[in-house]
Amino acid sequence: MNKKQKYLDSELDIETRVDYLLNRLNVDEKVRLIRGKDFWTTEAIERLKVPKFGMTDGPLGVAYHSSNKGKTTRFPATIALAATWNKELAFKMGKAMGKETKLVGRHQILAPGVNIIRSPLCGRNFEYLSEDPILSSDLGAEIIKGIQSEEIACCVKHYVTNNSETKRMSISTEIDERTLQEIYIKNFGRIIRKANPWGLMVCYNRVNGVYGAENKYLLKEILRDQLGFTGHVVSDWGAAQRTSGASACIKAGLNLEMPGSFILSRTYRKKKVKKALNEGKINEDDINHIVRPLLRTFFRVGLFEQENPNPQGNIDIPEHQQIAQQIAEEGMVLLKNQNNFLPLNLEKIKKIAILGPNASRVFGKPYYGGSSAVKPPFEITPYKGLNQYISGKAEVVSNPEDADIVLLVVGLNHGGHFLLNYLLNKEGDTEGKDRTSYKLPEEQEQLIHETLKKNPNTIVILIAGSPIDVSDWYDDVPALLNAWYPGMMGGNALARVLFGEVSPSGKLPLTYPKSLEDHPAHKSPRRFPGNLDELKIYYEEGIYVGYRYFDRNEIEPFFPFGFGLSYTEFEISSIRIDKKDIHNEDQFEVSVDVKNIGKRNGAEVIQIYIQDNESSVDRPPRELQAFEKLFLNPGEKKTVSFQLDKSSLEFYSEKEHKFKAEPGKFTIWAGTSSRELPLSIDINYKS
Ligand code: BGC
Repeated sequence: MNKKQKYLDSELDIETRVDYLLNRLNVDEKVRLIRGKDFWTTEAIERLKVPKFGMTDGPLGVAYHSSNKGKTTRFPATIALAATWNKELAFKMGKAMGKETKLVGRHQILAPGVNIIRSPLCGRNFEYLSEDPILSSDLGAEIIKGIQSEEIACCVKHYVTNNSETKRMSISTEIDERTLQEIYIKNFGRIIRKANPWGLMVCYNRVNGVYGAENKYLLKEILRDQLGFTGHVVSDWGAAQRTSGASACIKAGLNLEMPGSFILSRTYRKKKVKKALNEGKINEDDINHIVRPLLRTFFRVGLFEQENPNPQGNIDIPEHQQIAQQIAEEGMVLLKNQNNFLPLNLEKIKKIAILGPNASRVFGKPYYGGSSAVKPPFEITPYKGLNQYISGKAEVVSNPEDADIVLLVVGLNHGGHFLLNYLLNKEGDTEGKDRTSYKLPEEQEQLIHETLKKNPNTIVILIAGSPIDVSDWYDDVPALLNAWYPGMMGGNALARVLFGEVSPSGKLPLTYPKSLEDHPAHKSPRRFPGNLDELKIYYEEGIYVGYRYFDRNEIEPFFPFGFGLSYTEFEISSIRIDKKDIHNEDQFEVSVDVKNIGKRNGAEVIQIYIQDNESSVDRPPRELQAFEKLFLNPGEKKTVSFQLDKSSLEFYSEKEHKFKAEPGKFTIWAGTSSRELPLSIDINYKS
């Protein structure tokens, strides 16, 4: 290696290598690097042996359309992972996705999706985690750690306030500073602190009038200066196109415009950037500033050391499929179980009917639901998995009247190719469109009523990525299980849960309102889908997103945030704290005991919420601050401890433009859902 190629020396630290390479690139080459070459890669700079950098879509696995049309592990929807409340599983899923990204010859996966779920109707809820920034960021951070442990860059998306799909490319989120910071930025900020993501995707929409891709306040002042983000920022595909141009995006800090397509992205075209340079709107330092984080990512993923010359087509890895199955099992949320109707006992059941439009539906098809579409080597549908499980033990019949038990699999759908959904106005869980109704499609409502008339022993299983209004038939069903989109192993997972091989342990990562009118994002159309003439969506609920609103206004949700039943029972007791008086830099530890007092193995999620009793500003009654999932055998007891610090007492002060905690009394609540908090203890924050 000659002296000039020192950046190729993998023994040197990354910042030194970035410096060397940056010094060797000429302006033309730098400009070529900041815009995609094609849909999924950047341009190679042959003179300096800079290989192309390849991306693939996520976040449900390595997407088919962006990975040389390879079949890969289809994980359950991100919202199903969130319902596991299991950080270890989030890491495992991330690691598996990272590995598969490498196998298909890419360097970055466009995942995870972490937008806060602000409304039950957002078409992309299935790709996101939660209505709560703590749950979302704790799990999001683990996914990222998993991905990056394989030397693959994540791309946490979509920064920020892209919480609905309607007019996503032009609408402006109208949001106040405190709400932006306390709910939406907090989510990204914690992820950055915990996982140091190497990539981030900026949203399509405008925020208070300015497009994300040219928003200096969001990209520079908040992302770099406040949150300390060190990775590169990529535009959502085509998002820079609507901005005021190259110099604004460069000044704001957009590092990469994607894709490389004449129609979708022309902002960072060489001619335009050169023009901005010649006119003195930007200078070479500005370009260097943009290129640097991108090169940092190149070195972080080992771009120069490990080009994969033989990307794999199909990927069929049983260990990854097992992770997918475990997520599906742990994510299923048991919403009703009258008189312990479940689990089903095959010794007592002779005939089972497996019915409903989602029983045999295959979801893993190219572009189904949008850019997240993963096509797996095989997909075990509910029907397939249940049928296989039952085989030889009971008979599968097709008439509800003939069955001892009916398993009715209903829910939503990704529709078809997402562009067709858009054009044909088909709604469901799909990118580019929001739902207009909180209910199931009319024919499914009817099907549930008719089936219940024919056979009252009908268990409803929901396959969907968003909350659904179940009020019309909830009272009539003996059991209700939410299976989300359970991925390629979903049918097996479903059988194991229904027949009691595993006890359900999923908890809702969001609130199910009784009706849309009760929901903070739906108090008026201005709030959702927005005033479409003005192209503005008003976040007038402020910080009262999800359960924060229901708790504050004492509105009974249909199912509260954090809720989910089990086949066994847990007792939680003895909350304690290692110090009563907390000072500025202190850490404090809260512990509770948990015992499985039922007859089956199971898992419980212990949730810690904190209430500020004396505050100069309006605050939610309680906010989630920590959680842990515990697995316990019958009779087993464990202690779980949570390390907390001042940050869990803070709110965002608009006066001081920063997060702060005010001295006074705080109550720490512990329990098993946002509405089941039997234990509490007080602390004093002294500052
Ligand atoms: C989506 C992104 C996706 C990108 C590339 C966009 O339409 O919003 O989430 O990663 O396309 O497919």
